[in-house]
Amino acid sequence: MNYKELCAEIKTALKDDFRAYCQYLLDKNPEELLFDKADVPEELLSKHSEYLKRISAGEPMQYVFGYAPFYDLYIDCAPGVLIPRFDTEVLVEEAIKTLPQNAYFADLCCGTGCIAAAVLKHREDTKALCLDISDKALEMTGKNVKKYGLQSRCNIQKFDVFGNWSGLPRFDAILCNPPYINAKDMKTLPDNVKKEPYEALYGGEDGLDFYREIIKKSKDHFKGLPHIIFEIGYDEADGLRELTGFKCEIKKDLSNNDRLCIIRG
Ligand SMILES: C[S@@+](CC[C@H](N)C(=O)[O-])C[C@H]1O[C@@H](n2cnc3c(N)ncnc32)[C@H](O)[C@@H]1O
Repeated sequence: MNYKELCAEIKTALKDDFRAYCQYLLDKNPEELLFDKADVPEELLSKHSEYLKRISAGEPMQYVFGYAPFYDLYIDCAPGVLIPRFDTEVLVEEAIKTLPQNAYFADLCCGTGCIAAAVLKHREDTKALCLDISDKALEMTGKNVKKYGLQSRCNIQKFDVFGNWSGLPRFDAILCNPPYINAKDMKTLPDNVKKEPYEALYGGEDGLDFYREIIKKSKDHFKGLPHIIFEIGYDEADGLRELTGFKCEIKKDLSNNDRLCIIRG
């Protein structure tokens, strides 16, 4: 089989995901290959047939290939941990721009550690503590922090948002993309999203359980709110305004959806 034929096969099988798959498998834009009649090496073809089978069965591409592009990093990911989203890059951008000099920040609900890794990479003056309840997430965070040589500025600790906060140090800021999907929307998740961990997605009946708890616990633990940057769902801004007593700023993402809730402690 040549590259032109391979591209045609992928396009028929994957439709909208065609471009992303070509990029993952061949590290090229499909346009570069559409007229390429060179033979595809056998080894690549056999990998391709395994990958295509898994993706056609609904497995997310990022799990199949083991990484996701995020900001200007390639974040390792695996089943059991949320795939980093493009939507979250706006939080990273905000943190890079606004964290105070030498800030010590928490990446609360860290998942793959994508937020901490991107911020630490671009803000060499900062340090982080990554916290998550999931062992698999902590393992992935460890991998990603190591991949970018950030270990000396990053600690990783198992932590339950709904548990005891007394052991936490004082942070200059909390960066947090918590589970925030409400009960109604959990029932209509696309099939590929259903392959991601339920505990990384479900934010309680109204989607706001984590925000409620983090705001309450932060007030008690820090004796006032620290600087917090939350990622929020596109329809959660009013809920966050109420939870913060209208002391927050809502910012939009590049698609013009409400995406960040910023509390300036
Ligand atoms: C929406 S994911 C965000 C992951 C990552 N920060 C990102 O942006 O890709 C939420 C994370 O919260 C973690 N989590 C769920 N319940 C938790 C809890 N009670 N305490 C701490 N972390 C929790 C999940 O394991 C998951 O990694």
